[in-house]
Amino acid sequence: MNPRLADLPFPISKFSLGAWAFAGGAMWGNQDEKNSIATVHAAMDAGVTMIDTAPGYGHGVSEEIVGRAIKGRRDQVLIANKVSAVPLNYETTIECCETGLKRLQTDHVDLLQIHWRRDDTVIDEVVAAMEKLRDDGKVLALGVCNFGPKSLNDLFEHGTGWITNQLAYNLLWRANEFEITDACASHDMGILCYSPIQQGLLTGRFATVDEVPESRRRTRHFSSDSELSRHGDAGNEALTLATLDRIRTIAAGLGESMADLSLAWLLHQRGVSSVIFGARTPEQVAANMKAENLKLDTATLNALDEATSELKTALGSNADLWNSETRII
Ligand SMILES: NC(=O)c1ccc[n+]([C@@H]2O[C@H](COP(=O)([O-])OP(=O)(O)OC[C@H]3O[C@@H](n4cnc5c(N)ncnc54)[C@H](OP(=O)(O)O)[C@@H]3O)[C@@H](O)[C@H]2O)c1
Repeated sequence: MNPRLADLPFPISKFSLGAWAFAGGAMWGNQDEKNSIATVHAAMDAGVTMIDTAPGYGHGVSEEIVGRAIKGRRDQVLIANKVSAVPLNYETTIECCETGLKRLQTDHVDLLQIHWRRDDTVIDEVVAAMEKLRDDGKVLALGVCNFGPKSLNDLFEHGTGWITNQLAYNLLWRANEFEITDACASHDMGILCYSPIQQGLLTGRFATVDEVPESRRRTRHFSSDSELSRHGDAGNEALTLATLDRIRTIAAGLGESMADLSLAWLLHQRGVSSVIFGARTPEQVAANMKAENLKLDTATLNALDEATSELKTALGSNADLWNSETRII
């Protein structure tokens, strides 16, 4: 039988910990492994039951650090890993998963996800390989990331019982609300939200575009002038900053931080199974976990909807925030 979310060894917490920043490097800058390990422990001690990593995060560095961090505590945490070889086919999927198991120092991962469906991804082979890994007990459950309506249709032509779709979702990026939330619901898939504070933007600490680190200006919020950008589109910088101002005003009126408000807002959205925040220190974990109990009333939810709708419309329904809006997913 295909496992559902509820069949995992224990429930996924409302907040999961994302381990991308543990890789440091050009994307995140220096990151001390001791801090990363303390961050994992702080999250687990605060009730986080799932950690999300990927082979692509520093070519395995993040997987290795997570492996060292959970040593002796493997039975207390769910591991979500990904496969992302180029090209992704039957052999490379198996190899990518096996390498991940070694780096994580574990005999299984709880959730294995396709990280990206690229044009050269051989979807029927990848589905077959992941189902084999599941049948062999190396993986408990299967999911995808960044799958739009077309990719979901293709996926379910070949496989059954895929339980999650991990998507960028936050107050500045609501593309999934147009079609994908409904598509996920119809396939009984939970949504795992990534970049829930838009890589720090929703903390309100960047006042101008120039203050945002170059590596965090790759999304379609920003113009493609940024060196690392690959979308080639015009971006929506002025509207993004104006939307941040509106959210800042609502947060101030409630006496809450923008980050807490943004994280709590996601917990009130349809189809969300867990919100994966990135954190680099135990202090960031503690700050973010406060949002778990922040209840938002209808007036606040409506105000946030109104404040962010213009940007939502401008950015459109394509849920891939890194590539051109015209790339069909
Ligand atoms: N499936 C995919 O394609 C995909 C893509 C992206 C991410 N993800 C997953 O989602 C996770 C989270 O997404 P993300 O890391 O891109 O974005 P995020 O969670 O929106 O932002 C994380 C960054 O914001 C800063 N931050 C976190 N808490 C803070 C706080 N309380 N106050 C101030 N700053 C704070 C930290 O960086 P600084 O301290 O350096 O500012 C942190 O690394 C990733 O780790 C990864 O596991 C998946």
